[in-house]
Amino acid sequence: MNILVIGSGGREHAIVWKLRQSPRVKALYCAPGNAGIAQQAQLVSLKPTDIQGLLRFVKENGVELTVVGPEQPLVDGIVDEFERNGLRIFGPSKSAAMLEGSKAFAKKFMANHGIPTARFRSFSSGGFSQAEAYTRELPLPIVVKADGLAAGKGVLICETHDAAAVALREMMSNKAFGTAGETVVIEEYLEGEEASVFALTDGDRFAVLATAQDHKRILDGDQGKNTGGMGAYATAPIVTKEVLKQIEEEIIVPTLEGMKSDGMPYRGCLYCGLMITPTGPKVIEFNCRFGDPETQVVVPLIDGDLAEILLSISERRLDPSAVKQHAASAVCVVMASRGYPDDYQTGKVIHGLEKVRHEDGLVVFHAATRSDGEQVISSGGRVLGVTAIGYDHDLKGAIDAAYRAVGSLTFDGAYYRSDIGQKGLRRQSHSSTREH
Ligand SMILES: Nc1ncnc2c1ncn2[C@@H]1O[C@H](COP(=O)(O)OP(=O)(O)O)[C@@H](O)[C@H]1O
Ligand SMILES: [Mg+2]
Repeated sequence: MNILVIGSGGREHAIVWKLRQSPRVKALYCAPGNAGIAQQAQLVSLKPTDIQGLLRFVKENGVELTVVGPEQPLVDGIVDEFERNGLRIFGPSKSAAMLEGSKAFAKKFMANHGIPTARFRSFSSGGFSQAEAYTRELPLPIVVKADGLAAGKGVLICETHDAAAVALREMMSNKAFGTAGETVVIEEYLEGEEASVFALTDGDRFAVLATAQDHKRILDGDQGKNTGGMGAYATAPIVTKEVLKQIEEEIIVPTLEGMKSDGMPYRGCLYCGLMITPTGPKVIEFNCRFGDPETQVVVPLIDGDLAEILLSISERRLDPSAVKQHAASAVCVVMASRGYPDDYQTGKVIHGLEKVRHEDGLVVFHAATRSDGEQVISSGGRVLGVTAIGYDHDLKGAIDAAYRAVGSLTFDGAYYRSDIGQKGLRRQSHSSTREH
């Protein structure tokens, strides 16, 4: 089978790395990819949003399955376009991708189908004064969200009613997020710990992958600015067996059934961003694709042939029993460029990659790198995702192994958090429901 993966980050590297292990995969392409992905796949210099260019490439090169990493092409309708051309592709249709593409759509969908989520109202352009009046009714803090795709920057947690009014004015009147913020969702603040659950689904059947926790803030102890994610670990002990059952029954099943009955069956990876609250799991958001950096810990734990799994989903014949999980933990520590998520420098030479290349249970996923002759150079904010596996659910061992590897990798201005996975360790020591 010849496969094309679309995207260029750590998520795509993890997917490519896993696909490369499948004996069924012959040619493996990635558009546009990065220096790490180039070790396992042939790079194709096409942008993820160049749907017509990608379509042409697939036809000319006999690609039998396309796997879409990022959300933008999905929301733009790449799946509809490929399927119209009789091609197999992994991901939801344009209308199903609205679960991520419009937060107002997703909230309305959840309300219609009784899926647990934060209390909310949405307001479209022109509704500023009603929106502001609604915030006055809510207890603090208040969550204000831009409706559309905003590259992870469209959510503001407002500590005062005045701050909420400013946020609304910025989004709705001053168009701080362009058209993405013309419509806003205002919702109650949920207390609890966050967790990510990925369901692979062909629209009817589904399989849940290892549960994970991301570390969104830039500083240790979950302080400082929000980022794309500074690290992750799996599995997450906060999602006990009982909580996972609740997530499946109260969230995943009604979502898939609701999407089907609303005429937009959901196929692909349904990313459930959850708050585990004292009254049970609630949806913070859905994403319509694999999440990053969680994919870098979730995909290595899949015990199965990823190429066959993704192909079966594109052909609407998923066998959930073919999707097993290794009895292991995984930790990914992101090495970023100093200054990220604000201004940072790129173009720094990365040293030490050859030292850790052949270590058992360790893999360095590249998030933003390029090759320059023999050298690997940083090319973005999040540069590497150093991932270690702890066999037999040894989270502590995985954390130690990941940080040992981080210690032997260097580039000018490298920054990383030093507490990735600690949340999980603390919870493991408090609970007896360690494995699921
Ligand atoms: N209702 C809420 N209560 C508490 N925190 C929230 C709520 N909604 C969002 N957040 C916080 O804001 C982050 C980003 O919100 P999210 O809806 O996931 O948007 P996006 O990922 O598109 O930026 C979440 O990961 C969570 O930390
Ligand atoms: Mg999110």
